[in-house]
Amino acid sequence: MNVLVTGAAGYIGSHTCRLLAQAGHRVVGYDNLSRGHQAAFDRATDDGQLVIGDLANSALLEETLRRESIEAVIHFAAFGLVGESVQYPERYHRNNVEGSQCLLEAMQQANVLRLVVSSTTAIYGTPKQIPISEETPPDPINPYGQSKWDVECLLQEARGRFGLGYAALRYFNAAGASLDGLLGEDHDPETHLIPIVLQVALGQRERLSIFGSDYPTPDGTCVRDYVHVLDLADAHERALQRLSPGDCVEVNLGSGQGTSVLEIVEQAREITGHPIPADLAERRPGDPPRLIANNHRARMELAWEPTHSDLETILSSAWDWHRNHPHGYAQ
Ligand code: UFG
Repeated sequence: MNVLVTGAAGYIGSHTCRLLAQAGHRVVGYDNLSRGHQAAFDRATDDGQLVIGDLANSALLEETLRRESIEAVIHFAAFGLVGESVQYPERYHRNNVEGSQCLLEAMQQANVLRLVVSSTTAIYGTPKQIPISEETPPDPINPYGQSKWDVECLLQEARGRFGLGYAALRYFNAAGASLDGLLGEDHDPETHLIPIVLQVALGQRERLSIFGSDYPTPDGTCVRDYVHVLDLADAHERALQRLSPGDCVEVNLGSGQGTSVLEIVEQAREITGHPIPADLAERRPGDPPRLIANNHRARMELAWEPTHSDLETILSSAWDWHRNHPHGYAQ
């Protein structure tokens, strides 16, 4: 299939491009490189075709869709930091919601009717029932989650208006790196737990701050569902294969296992052999105590099986990446 991938130079985007290319698809990347890395896309696709463009540029999107005879789009391009979204909500609305609107306009014009979109567990806010199923009513508690829920509403509307077929893939905590060390996580600034823990192990940071130790969880620290980036990439390929115009697929992508912050630190100490000094600190605003996926629907509808999402594979692949690329793609 001829596939346009927005956000193709980002963390999950680049891993997915690689898997798509390996599966025989023709990938055209689309990225403004504001947060992604050209090197990530080049490595993922063996110097494939990357269009440098902004989501706001609907004309360039439409021209690319037509020129490359695109049959389906995978849409990663978005801002994804909860804290930043609280500080700059309008940025999240403009980039994530209005950007997706531009993409949908271009797709309608070019008559491209298959779309796989990154969504997030953040649309659920702080759900009462764990594990979280797709029936949980959306109730975002921060502008990032709100922007992604707004995007899902646009998808529903586009399905009714021009017959778009879409899959909204609601990720839990993406983590890990490619097993051969070619691709990995490189954010600036880095705010995610696992890369920060490994940066302490590398000596790039002195200590870890554990945000909150009085949560209603077994050890008092927040519990998350970490899902390997390769399993996420695999789900995109499955969604692409399955999707027809007019379809609607909404699935959670998580391992179904909860891991606390302390458990991550302890396992990282074992894998890295570093003591990883950590301090107990204040709670970080907006952190729900526990987020664990019910992934039954993804297993049924996509025949998806998270095969790399055990903690050992997540942490050791991430550790290999960080050790071999202490400055990410900038070397
Ligand atoms: N944490 C620390 N210290 C740090 C960094 C993180 O204790 O230095 C804790 C956080 O407080 C949280 C856990 O580690 O309890 C995981 O934090 P991350 O920042 O790695 O991930 P989040 O759970 O905050 O974010 C993820 C996704 C978002 C999504 C969000 C929904 O990355 O896209 O879940 O809550 F929106």
